[in-house]
Amino acid sequence: MTEGQGNGAAAPGNAGSGPMELRPAGPLDSELIAAIQQACFPDDPWSADSIATLAGQPGSFALLALRGGEPAGFVLARVAAEDGEIIALGVLPEARRGGAGGLLVEGAIEGAGGLGATALFLEVAEDNDAARSLYKRCGFFSVGRRPGYYKRPDGRIAALVMRYSFACK
Ligand SMILES: CC(C)(COP(=O)(O)OP(=O)(O)OC[C@H]1O[C@@H](n2cnc3c(N)ncnc32)[C@H](O)[C@@H]1OP(=O)(O)O)[C@@H](O)C(=O)NCCC(=O)NCCS
Repeated sequence: MTEGQGNGAAAPGNAGSGPMELRPAGPLDSELIAAIQQACFPDDPWSADSIATLAGQPGSFALLALRGGEPAGFVLARVAAEDGEIIALGVLPEARRGGAGGLLVEGAIEGAGGLGATALFLEVAEDNDAARSLYKRCGFFSVGRRPGYYKRPDGRIAALVMRYSFACK
């Protein structure tokens, strides 16, 4: 999974107003998702083409979170056999702490379950307290650790592998 630099601490979101909602993303949303991804992961930007390719594979899906019609965040996930994976998740800095992250993870869980996943996995950097807290709150548990998985300006940092089990629901 792409990874921010533990930079989840942001002021309450003011991107748009009104209730936060989710909608499925399609091929025409690739540019928008790329813009959000680049705002969240400036050191590891993905092109719209690579997002379209990832999201267009069998078993893959993407969701957008919107507040008052304004984009707030996205999640990209896939299911292969019975295993689901959250590939990328990001909420625009100005929209954080507004519930988009939680809604997107819940949407990914629901989407993966609908595609037959019995478990959903993800990787998160050990120093990303915001994302770790979000995943824990959504029912993920740490099941492994990959030392030196992510690059940081001052070295490398481990990824935690987290798992959500549909059986525990
Ligand atoms: C992680 C991220 C997606 C959270 O999105 P968000 O919209 O701010 O999340 P929500 O508002 O839905 O918050 C849900 C829960 O997440 C946790 N959380 C979110 N931001 C947090 C922060 N800065 N510090 C601690 N916990 C945080 C809390 O448990 C929060 O519940 P609470 O509001 O009841 O305390 C967002 O910070 C982000 O895009 N970060 C950069 C990209 C990234 O790290 N992606 C994940 C890679 S694995």
